[in-house]
Amino acid sequence: MKIPKSIITGGAGFVGSNLTDHLVRIGHKVIILDNFVSGKKSNLSHHKKKDLKIIKIDISQNKNLDKYFKGIDYVFHLAGLAEIIPSIKNPKKYFINNVIGTLNVLEASRKVKIKKFIYAASSSCYGAPKKFPTSEKDRIDLKHPYALTKFIGEELVMNYASQFRMPNISFRFFNVYGPRLNTSGQYSAVIGNFLTQKKNKKPLTIVGDGKQTRDFIHVYDLSNAFAKAIKSKSVNKIYNLGSGKRISINLIAKIFGGKKKFIPIRPGEPKNSLANISKVKKEINWKPKISIEEGIRKLLRG
Ligand SMILES: NC(=O)c1ccc[n+]([C@@H]2O[C@H](COP(=O)([O-])OP(=O)(O)OC[C@H]3O[C@@H](n4cnc5c(N)ncnc54)[C@H](O)[C@@H]3O)[C@@H](O)[C@H]2O)c1
Repeated sequence: MKIPKSIITGGAGFVGSNLTDHLVRIGHKVIILDNFVSGKKSNLSHHKKKDLKIIKIDISQNKNLDKYFKGIDYVFHLAGLAEIIPSIKNPKKYFINNVIGTLNVLEASRKVKIKKFIYAASSSCYGAPKKFPTSEKDRIDLKHPYALTKFIGEELVMNYASQFRMPNISFRFFNVYGPRLNTSGQYSAVIGNFLTQKKNKKPLTIVGDGKQTRDFIHVYDLSNAFAKAIKSKSVNKIYNLGSGKRISINLIAKIFGGKKKFIPIRPGEPKNSLANISKVKKEINWKPKISIEEGIRKLLRG
């Protein structure tokens, strides 16, 4: 049997490195394209050279990506700048990185006969949703440059699918957590912050009253959805990827345990988020398996 070859852009990051582990485990040869702006070499250092090639490259600047795409079966486009507040401070940087970067990867993929192109979109496109659970058909409300750039990227991906008959899929991730989650940095997400605070024996900082809810999806469940998507016949489709469970920040703090400290709310963050995942469940035969309690306990065990 032919060995499948995959490109993962952003493969040195949190989601990308977990996806790399999964693809290598199921027998893929993987090429990582990453400029290491937030990704780390150490996220991939456990792999053997024969399974993985790592190319340091900025996909938004380098127009000569074509040579890496020869003979590639699957493209997973995850590279992107992924923080809200820095995107408000520097929208142009986000536009070039996330939109032009996506365009360059699409162009390189279009020239070869790939079997599937998968894009990492974001549930931030729903802004502050009014309907729960939120489905793919619900209103788009782009509250900040990060959401805008990820959504334009998705539009490009879908446009290329219909114009050029590319076998593209866009997954709108909800809040992803799991091993190698970004735990440092000013803008890391709640579970990452709690992990650092717990490790440093500091109180857990809860934004607002902690009653706000999020849909958390474990990165192993996410990787599994990617693997199912490349096997499915589904093309030119957008899917929510979440757990379909509404989890409050107070519940997350309770699972972590320890002291808490309440801090002021931050701009651009919705009160609640909850994915309607019936479409992805039905069409690619996937469902999330890891409960939030199990996922956090695994993380705390290290
Ligand atoms: N983590 C989440 O909860 C979440 C939610 C919604 C969407 N997403 C999307 O999923 C993708 C992966 O997110 P993550 O949490 O793993 O973030 P991450 O920052 O850990 O990973 C992003 C990776 O992309 C690389 N990168 C960024 N710009 C690049 C460029 N121009 N050229 C080459 N490489 C570049 C970074 O070095 C990093 O390795 C992102 O596109 C993000 O927008 C993530």
